[in-house]
Amino acid sequence: MNDMTDDINLQNTSAGTSLDLSNYWMPFTANKQFKAAPRLLKRAKGMYYTSVDDRQVIDAVSGLWCVNAGHGREEITQAVTKQIAEMDYAPSFQMGHPIAFEAATHVAKVMPKGLDRIFFTNSGSESVDTALKIALAYHRARGEGQRTRLIGRERGYHGVGFGGISVGGISPNRKAFSANLIPGVDHLPHTHSLEHMAFSRGQPAWGAHLADELERIVALHDPSTIAAVIVEPMAGSAGVLIPPQGYLQRLREICDKYGILLIFDEVITGFGRLGKATASEYFGVTPDLITMAKAINNASVPMGAVAASRKVHDTIVDNGPGNGIELFHGYTYSAHPLAAAACIATQKIYQKENLFERAASMAPKLEQAIHSLKGEPHVIDIRNLGLVGAIELQPREGQPGARAYETFVKCFEMGVMVRYTGDILAFAPPLIVEDKHIDEIFSTVRKAIRSVA
Ligand SMILES: Cc1ncc(COP(=O)(O)O)c(C=O)c1O
Repeated sequence: MNDMTDDINLQNTSAGTSLDLSNYWMPFTANKQFKAAPRLLKRAKGMYYTSVDDRQVIDAVSGLWCVNAGHGREEITQAVTKQIAEMDYAPSFQMGHPIAFEAATHVAKVMPKGLDRIFFTNSGSESVDTALKIALAYHRARGEGQRTRLIGRERGYHGVGFGGISVGGISPNRKAFSANLIPGVDHLPHTHSLEHMAFSRGQPAWGAHLADELERIVALHDPSTIAAVIVEPMAGSAGVLIPPQGYLQRLREICDKYGILLIFDEVITGFGRLGKATASEYFGVTPDLITMAKAINNASVPMGAVAASRKVHDTIVDNGPGNGIELFHGYTYSAHPLAAAACIATQKIYQKENLFERAASMAPKLEQAIHSLKGEPHVIDIRNLGLVGAIELQPREGQPGARAYETFVKCFEMGVMVRYTGDILAFAPPLIVEDKHIDEIFSTVRKAIRSVA
């Protein structure tokens, strides 16, 4: 028994019972700060959360970039409920269950042509580590096992596995673990420049030349040592960094020239965020591997996946032993029956309600609304693409992130949940968003920005 519970950690819930906040060590959270003034949600439906003190809070960021079909979808609830009653779990190694295959077929249907071999994981981080391992296994299977180098990008976010933080480029995520990052990794420069692209609408015109840095990295290490390049086609977590026009096309060309695999991390962009099923389709650039998670099943049950091209899949599987395992990789919960049931139900909603097209049709409204905040105090950039937007604030002298944090808290108190990274506020509402919701979000954000010094 632990009787050391701190008074500050005893909060009243709406049910009138006392909630001990001390045991749960929260991820990517300022624990002490949070527990001194918690923000607790208890219900969600459609575009809104309900907080424990019974306030309606509009969800301007789809939970954590993941609830694309909106909250509390009845079809998903029913599918998961039916599945847990019918078969709660089935092993994923050397055994299968039909809905795992059915879920893969649904996902494959919306991937770019040819990327239709689906490996299931439980998160974006696992998807990234899986994709990196598949890339290494691919080169080994084709007799180029010396291709081991992985190229990421500054300010890239690829989750929190050792592979993901190694190719990732967010320094606080790497700092404490720097001596143990995986070896043989290099990084492209990021593409964000306020000097050249502040207040751009859609893709900035400046910056495609930054893809040519890959040529420099290739020349330095020799192409025969490089396995893969991994980038987010649009970087979300580092603060919405939108690829310059022509940049991704150029990366694809250079990878093709040197036999390097291109991995798009679509954990955020997958399933309609930019108005198409994938960012690959949106930008017209097809990678060799796509990582995904989050909206794959509306975030209702943890699930991720990697879509591999037939070339990559067949090279590994066809070169494997006749009756042996071809890829020594997988998870106890790969294609977990509940996650797979939720995935199928979610993909059916996306199709039936044309939610990807809906996202595209709402994008101009988001663009107009967010850019109307130009000129508000401390706003140094506004950018947008598809159903994603960001407002960058001038950092306070010596206190990076403080202004955005206070604005985020103010927004929550005023009834809007946003996300912030550094001094950037990010927006990515569920694809069911309507004009009136966008108006509600940005009129509140305007007030919040004005109220923070
Ligand atoms: C591009 C990208 N990759 C990977 C991840 C990690 O996903 P997870 O938190 O599910 O491990 C994220 C999470 O936001 C992401 O945005």
